[in-house]
This record gives sequence, structure tokens and C-alpha cells, in this order.
Amino acid sequence: MRKSRVIIISVLGVLLGGLMAVLVLPDVRGRLMRGAGEVVSVGKAQVGGPFALTDHTGKRVTDKDFRGRFMLVYFGFTYCPDVCPTGLQVMTAALDQIGAKAERITSILISLDPERDTPAQLAEYVKAFHPRLVGLTGSLDEIAAAARAYRVYYKKVKDEKSTVGYTVDHTSILYLMDPKGEFVAHFTHATAVDAIVSRLQRVL
Ligand code: NI
Repeated sequence: MRKSRVIIISVLGVLLGGLMAVLVLPDVRGRLMRGAGEVVSVGKAQVGGPFALTDHTGKRVTDKDFRGRFMLVYFGFTYCPDVCPTGLQVMTAALDQIGAKAERITSILISLDPERDTPAQLAEYVKAFHPRLVGLTGSLDEIAAAARAYRVYYKKVKDEKSTVGYTVDHTSILYLMDPKGEFVAHFTHATAVDAIVSRLQRVL
């Protein structure tokens, strides 16, 4: 291939990548729009929304019960072998590092495997991570609605190694929501704890 073509293709790749980032990553979009001096509300990410679920104590809760507090929301499931535990450990480590300010944040695990994650199962699991971590589960429809609101992809897939024959593929994203329930930022299980801590300290 001629050098000029390689350069054109590279430039197109970068532009396309940038466009995808703007379309896909809500906080990039938010930053760009604010940077361009646009109306801030235009850049508001459409992530998050209403949910009605059951917590790990068996109590029915909705998103409105968490208003007035920041939320760190992670979607996963208790039988997840690696990614979820890592995500929850990162979240817990960040909360521990910000000390007393962490009391303004409710950390939440929403199960993507409601068939196995009963409130009792969640109760056992969440206490292994953080004393204030809230586990939420619900019917298949309720979980699907919550996942849709947060743009979370998940899919039950066959797994011969599992005793129940399946596992759940899912996106691993940690959402920071403000006290009005609006999206602030997102992280993944691979985000450095320090990066999460500095982001939290900027908003708290
Ligand atoms: Ni997982």
C-alpha cells in the first residue's frame, strides 16, 4: 500500500474512533459539549433511570430511595468467578480511601443473575466486600429494565464447568450517579483505585 493511503486510512481510523468514543462514552460526550460551550443539559448522559428491585434484606426499593446520596452502581452476579469480585474490590478500596466522605455514597450491586441471586444469597456476598454495600435483585423483567436504564449488556450463556450449566456474560462498569440520580462518571473493574478516588474527591 502507498504511504499516502496508509496515512489517509490511519486518519480515518482516528476520526472514526473519536466519533465512536463520543457516541459510546457518555462522560466523554459530556466533557466535549461542556468544552465547546454548549448548553450543559444537552451533554447530560442518558444513563441511569428508574428501577424497582428487592434489596438483600428482602425489602422492596426504588431508585428514589437513594436520592440525596451519591450512588456507585455495579451490575454483576455473585457466582461471577473473577471480574465482579475485582470490580467490587476496586469500589471498596476507593471507598475506604476517601474515609468519612464515603458515607455520602451508597455502593450498590445489581444482580444480573436473579435466578441464583436471592436476597439471602446477596446478603452473604455483599458483607464480604463492604459493610454498607447494598445488593439488589428482582424478577427477570425488573433486572432487564434496570440493565436497560444503565445501558448494561448481559447474556446468560452455556457453561459446562458450572454446576447449573450457565454463566452470565456482562459489561463491567461502575457508574457514579449524583444525589439527583443523574450520571456523573463511569469506571471499570480495571480502573486504578487512585483514579476513582480523585474523581470522587472532586465531586464530594
Ligand atoms: Ni461478573
